[in-house]
Amino acid sequence: MKIIHNISECVTVAGGPRRGKAMSDPGIIRDAAVVISEEKIIAVGDSKELLAKYPQAERIDALGRAVVPGFVDPHTHLIWVGDRANEFEMRLQGKSYMEIMNAGGGILATLTATRQADLKTMLAQSRERAERAFRYGTTTMEAKTGYGLDLETEFRQMETILELNKEGPLELVPTYMGAHAIPKDYPGGVRGYTDWLCDVALPETKKWWLEHAEGQALPFNDVFCEQGVFEIEDTRKILLKGQELGFRSKLHADEFVNLGGASLAAELGAISADHLVKTSREDILRMAASETVAVSLPGTPFGLAQAEYTPARAIIDAGGYLALATDLNPGTTWNESMQFIQALACRYMKLTPAEALVASTINAAKAIGRADTVGSIEVGKQADLLILAVSDYRHLTYRYGTNLVAEVFKKGKRFAV
Ligand code: NIG
Ligand code: FE
Repeated sequence: MKIIHNISECVTVAGGPRRGKAMSDPGIIRDAAVVISEEKIIAVGDSKELLAKYPQAERIDALGRAVVPGFVDPHTHLIWVGDRANEFEMRLQGKSYMEIMNAGGGILATLTATRQADLKTMLAQSRERAERAFRYGTTTMEAKTGYGLDLETEFRQMETILELNKEGPLELVPTYMGAHAIPKDYPGGVRGYTDWLCDVALPETKKWWLEHAEGQALPFNDVFCEQGVFEIEDTRKILLKGQELGFRSKLHADEFVNLGGASLAAELGAISADHLVKTSREDILRMAASETVAVSLPGTPFGLAQAEYTPARAIIDAGGYLALATDLNPGTTWNESMQFIQALACRYMKLTPAEALVASTINAAKAIGRADTVGSIEVGKQADLLILAVSDYRHLTYRYGTNLVAEVFKKGKRFAV
């Protein structure tokens, strides 16, 4: 048993996922302590009282610094090989992301590199990013496939997720994203590929998972719903087929053009709809009336040097669940730090530091179906928390570009940064 005591402020985010106005209460306890037994939190409260109550516990002095829940990053494309620095230069010279993609670069360029790589290379390159994210305070991360599109490479990506999860300490939550792009010259184009996803890839993926993942919940099923990629009817088909097989739905919606993806997410009971840059008022209201979490990825417009961000204030004002994520990927935003994402969210989407933290912890956990185990500091939860290098958690967003995490606790285990 251990007790982390002498905490200036423990930002608990206790009490479950928060919608709308409730996001502004981060649940702060001052002069606090947290008691951990094995992997779990068994007490949270006043430092002096808990020290008296648990005299045998190993003492860890927080030295008057702040403690927050480990960050949950609910949208990443962690598993890829290679880089696209050349495309970054092309964009700086005026080419758009979609232009580069339509000319055979973009996702398809990473696809080629990823298909050619063996498991060892894929593991090594992905592990480096996972370790960096962990040092920056992410203790749970969603990870998508989608840089293979054929069965063999998608399965290798899933194997990489399972393997990294076994290695720890970062906990990964898998998503299958066969619907990330349409392979070049696919017979029948998007229609042909959609049919193959529904008739072959999704059933085969389920079979593979049941054989390789020993009782772990099926991955989510995610679709890049965008003009010229999978439009609404294809997206609906792929998500419904997935649901029939037991995959819960997620989708990339309204990143560049509004097709009504956010409304579709609400209609189909998707666990989240992500990106949401071009989302309309009507879509926002439909999402707010549902349990679907709106996941904003401010690193993406920033990474693309675009001026438009998710209308996050409107989502919160409408009473929706808002979460934040990195979208970590080699094309639009190679960034592992949820601290930087929170700093962007405050500046470009006018979130308060409290809202940004709630969106990066308990609401992010809801976006990947893990709000019962992670995302807050409360009795019964996994002991995933961060001792910051500062005594006021607002410095996480006030400052940026450096690491303000001093120590990470994952399932009760302590890691220096
Ligand atoms: O979320 N939009 C689709 N997928 C990624 C980009 C992936 C890539 O460019 O490699 C995204 O932004
Ligand atoms: Fe993405």
